Amino acid sequence: MPHSSYKAIGILDSGVGGLTVFQELTRQLPHEQIVYFGDTARMPYGPRPDEEVRRFALQIIDFLQNQEIKMVVVACNTATAVGLSSYRERSALPVLGVIEPGVRAALKQTRKGRVGVIGTAGTVRSSAYEKALQGARPGLHITARACPLFVLLVENDLVDTPEAEKVAAEYLAPFNLAAVDTLILGCTHYPLMAELIQKTVGSGVTLINSAEEIAGEVKSILTERRLHHPLQLTEPGYRFFVSGNPHSFEEIATKMLHRRIKAYQVTL
Ligand code: DGL
Repeated sequence: MPHSSYKAIGILDSGVGGLTVFQELTRQLPHEQIVYFGDTARMPYGPRPDEEVRRFALQIIDFLQNQEIKMVVVACNTATAVGLSSYRERSALPVLGVIEPGVRAALKQTRKGRVGVIGTAGTVRSSAYEKALQGARPGLHITARACPLFVLLVENDLVDTPEAEKVAAEYLAPFNLAAVDTLILGCTHYPLMAELIQKTVGSGVTLINSAEEIAGEVKSILTERRLHHPLQLTEPGYRFFVSGNPHSFEEIATKMLHRRIKAYQVTL
């Protein structure tokens, strides 16, 4: 049996959004192999009951664990918000969520202690970001809002449209009123529309894309547990699995990552 370090990093998301985390991982850890699962047939997770999202995420973790992986990155904010502890109980591998890294990045950035959070309905309902922010620094002024249509704009490639501008103006108005100086993009899809979000909230607000922080944390975990791939692979293998139509995933992933992506459909 090969040592675990030879195995891949497993990433799960409800769709294409987790590719922002994939991309940052390939930048910071260019020699690691990655297995990605996008639950495109059942996305969006945002409006689903917590219990259902947890069940889906656990199914995907079981699938990934059969793909020779050495750790799990839950690159979906909704899945992290509603069930990170249950995934950790289920898996003997290190399981990393996206909320703590995003919170850490926001705390480093805020100057006035006025932080905004945008996410799916499930993430905002869970108050996972507020709890983690307040837990780390009591007294912060936090404004959170669900922006469910953002995910659909990204998945349908509609970010550069006047409709998207209107939606953004409406969703983001409370953050201008609350005078936040830092806004956490608490959903994997939002970095893909960061330009529009930045334009809407103004240049005085720092956007937090937790992908960078997550990749940094994956790196630390691999170092601590001596799990870095022992070979300096110049072309590490990347495998993509989806539950829905592989072609639409391939199209959007190829455009996002500027490399040809082949995805395989699986039924869980
Ligand atoms: N991946 C989800 C998240 O980060 C967004 C998309 C969805 O609702 O499924 O919360």
